[in-house]
Amino acid sequence: MDAAQWDERYRASAGGVWATQPPAIVREIAAPLSPGSAIDVATGDGRTALWLAERGWRCTGVDFSSAGLALAAARPGGDAVTWACADVHAWDPGAPVDLVVSCYLHLPDSADAVRRIAEWVTPGGTLLVLGHDVDNIAAGGHGPSNPAILYTPELLRGALDDRFRIERCEQVIRTSEDAELRGGHHAPAIDTLLHAVRVR
Ligand SMILES: C[S@@+](CC[C@H](N)C(=O)[O-])C[C@H]1O[C@@H](n2cnc3c(N)ncnc32)[C@H](O)[C@@H]1O
Repeated sequence: MDAAQWDERYRASAGGVWATQPPAIVREIAAPLSPGSAIDVATGDGRTALWLAERGWRCTGVDFSSAGLALAAARPGGDAVTWACADVHAWDPGAPVDLVVSCYLHLPDSADAVRRIAEWVTPGGTLLVLGHDVDNIAAGGHGPSNPAILYTPELLRGALDDRFRIERCEQVIRTSEDAELRGGHHAPAIDTLLHAVRVR
């Protein structure tokens, strides 16, 4: 989907498309980290950026959908986040940050995109990537059905070089209580998680 199609989806929503809280696994991993600077890549209507800002992170949420960002900025706490309307292929944060999070950004060039956003992590910082696993199609979970844009642990692991220590790179099951969509209570889904720390 291009930016115009995402804009249409956000404009058609009643106040937001995605769940109000970040995915549970993101909360679990990010909660113990000391707040610093952060980027929420493809922030959408802002759930992860807003959650991080509430916890003291200086967070930038970047997305190429201005309609998504308008919803995000209007939510409580929206003033505490810097919103950047840009394509992740072209955007440059200016300086590396302590935490880069990307949730459900699915692109034809996902490995290159992960390689690119990994460069935004400062040495000592954390990279968290979560998305639909290719096995989610057969499992019938909510999400895209084009295998070419879905993740596998191999794909995400292969995007990083030896400057990163991989803490976890694996399939994770997302429960129906942790639905991706706002108000959604759909079947459990299979995601791929990458949690890495940049060591140099
Ligand atoms: C499935 S939504 C996920 C939103 C958010 N990360 C979440 O989990 O709630 C994917 C988001 O990626 C954004 N997106 C897709 N391709 C993009 C690109 N090339 N540059 C910036 N944003 C992009 C879309 O606008 C959309 O908001």
